[in-house]
Amino acid sequence: MARKKLIAGNWKMFTLSAGAAQLAKAVADELTADENLLVAVCPPFPWIASVAAVVKGTPLLVGAQDVYPAKEGAFTGEVAPEMLLDAGASYVIIGHSERRHVIKESDSLINEKVKFSLASGLKVIYCIGETLAQRQANETNAVLEQQLSSGLAGVDAAGMANVVIAYEPVWAIGTGVNATTEQAQNAHAFVRSQLAKTYGENVAQAVLIQYGGSVKPDNAKDLLSQPDVDGALVGGASLKADSFLAIVRAAM
Ligand code: G3H
Repeated sequence: MARKKLIAGNWKMFTLSAGAAQLAKAVADELTADENLLVAVCPPFPWIASVAAVVKGTPLLVGAQDVYPAKEGAFTGEVAPEMLLDAGASYVIIGHSERRHVIKESDSLINEKVKFSLASGLKVIYCIGETLAQRQANETNAVLEQQLSSGLAGVDAAGMANVVIAYEPVWAIGTGVNATTEQAQNAHAFVRSQLAKTYGENVAQAVLIQYGGSVKPDNAKDLLSQPDVDGALVGGASLKADSFLAIVRAAM
């Protein structure tokens, strides 16, 4: 089955307002509609609405980097799915390793975020990935299996139409050491086989599985040419329009 590719830029906690608008405009200006390719940027919360305004009418999509699983309420500092949609976001990243390991988010909170976001109409980029110690202990598949089952618990086959999986080995994030094409393909094929067990082959073949972790213009083509690699979740290289656009072009 031919799947689209999704290239998403995760700006993490970088950019100020003017720089965010400039970066979004520089990317959007170079994009042309391509039915096989989706491109998104995920700015920090304060710039989502202004970035969405800048890219309105272009193929560039907007996502958020986090969300809280409630419609509204006394949750100081948190942001609801409805607020993200209202600001112009259509995607949300959930389960990123920085939130799992730095912010110490639990599996159950991550699962609540996934379910509530889907029910609210957001598309979810659900991140999974093993640490270096887990890879060295041959635990990669077990970790991926556990993160898939805990994070997607309660998500049915219909819900999976709005879920993208991002395989991001923790040891490759921000290190300059990307997974080899073989490591990426093996992990992605394993993820797809797990999805097939849970949701059936048709759903598994339709789900986009992105690779993330030190994706750069010079390694993007090889990674993206792997049969089960359906895009990239890009951190550092998404903060410069030239390098992000080079990765986008590598997906065409
Ligand atoms: O969300 C993106 C990933 O954490 C990858 O970041 O491209 O800077 O390694 P990176």
